[in-house]
Amino acid sequence: MTILTHPTQKRDPEIPLSRRARETRLPPNAAASLKAKALRAEGRDIIDLTIGEPDFDTPEHIKDAAIQAMRRGETKYTPAAGTQALRDAVSRKLARENELDYPARQIAIANGAKQIIFNAFAATLDTGDEVIIPTPAWSSFQDAAAFNDGTPRLVPCPASTGFKLTPEALERAITPKTRWLVLNSPSNPSGAVYNADELEALADVLRRHPQVLVLLDEIYEHVHFLPGPPASLTRVAPDLLDRILLITGVSKTYAMTGWRIGFGAGPLPLIKAMIMVQAQACSGVNAIAQAAAITALDGDQSFVERAAAAYKSRRDIVVNAFAGSPHIDLVAPDGGLFAFPSCASVIGRKTPQGRLIDTDLAFGDYLLETEGVASVNGGSFDLPGHFRLSIAADANSIEEACRRIARACARLG
Ligand SMILES: Cc1ncc(COP(=O)(O)O)c(C=O)c1O
Repeated sequence: MTILTHPTQKRDPEIPLSRRARETRLPPNAAASLKAKALRAEGRDIIDLTIGEPDFDTPEHIKDAAIQAMRRGETKYTPAAGTQALRDAVSRKLARENELDYPARQIAIANGAKQIIFNAFAATLDTGDEVIIPTPAWSSFQDAAAFNDGTPRLVPCPASTGFKLTPEALERAITPKTRWLVLNSPSNPSGAVYNADELEALADVLRRHPQVLVLLDEIYEHVHFLPGPPASLTRVAPDLLDRILLITGVSKTYAMTGWRIGFGAGPLPLIKAMIMVQAQACSGVNAIAQAAAITALDGDQSFVERAAAAYKSRRDIVVNAFAGSPHIDLVAPDGGLFAFPSCASVIGRKTPQGRLIDTDLAFGDYLLETEGVASVNGGSFDLPGHFRLSIAADANSIEEACRRIARACARLG
């Protein structure tokens, strides 16, 4: 038998790509993570704080539920909407934790919250429709909007506003073409958490613009550092529920990033259209992961509290490490898996080798090359002058990373 060598091993053929494929990009945080992994593979001592992926393993009882599901033969295709049993479990979760009454038919299951966002934009955006995204923001919001022919309208929300959208800035950003406002609280990357008064003020603006839907991403709802659960627009302004898409999932809460299960709850016509998109893209999501997600939601919740306490102590390590720093300013994150310090005061300085740190990207490269600390630059979240550190790594690594960052800054001329 002769194995045929594929000709593309010798040369890449010309394949005309669609406009969408040409215009989209690899998510910048994924690119930063790949770079860190490549350096580690070369044997470098790298502390990788690029990704918001819990370092904990998925709890055993959830893994057991997946094994039992396989043994029961739950290994077949599932409905594009998700299994009835998981939609029911999400409905119970929303009643129990979020005090919201969503029947299962108003709930869609997808391959992670990320696909819920993609489906929502695919189901609603036509060319030129605008999506308001307060920045800093997770890059996938704008990339998913643009991929689906929407026009992202980025609204910078600097540290001086606690990285939060103000009602005035929202009012200014809304046009007759606005279809969506994206709100992500607790936020990736800033850790900002909107309080009830701030949400009420935004709701007042939204009431004046009934064409605007709200993509409310609460994927980090269980990771918060203030007393009591974070406020939610769903509870502050229930009159807006007919245009809110509430998004969450199991990735962060139960350390289940690789299982790929996310949920969206919203008005029936929107959910139905999103399910149609899902049906075209990939049909129902993994049957076994859905069975595991039911146990995650209905089962023992002690892991959630344990993990939240660990994130809180790691967050405190970062806050304390930069308190009083002459180089790094940090608005303490109130929730989520990241800290988003400012490096503005070191921009314009020179490395011992004479290289100018002219951008946050150059600062990130300097940290990586000289101290092996991998972060993601603020420009990747459309708020330059900052860098993002994940607190989803172990406490010792975070402590050591902060020490190395301080050392690197102290060396700048
Ligand atoms: C704000 C935000 N939403 C959604 C997601 C995606 O979550 P999932 O793993 O459920 O797709 C992430 C992941 O980093 C995120 O930061």
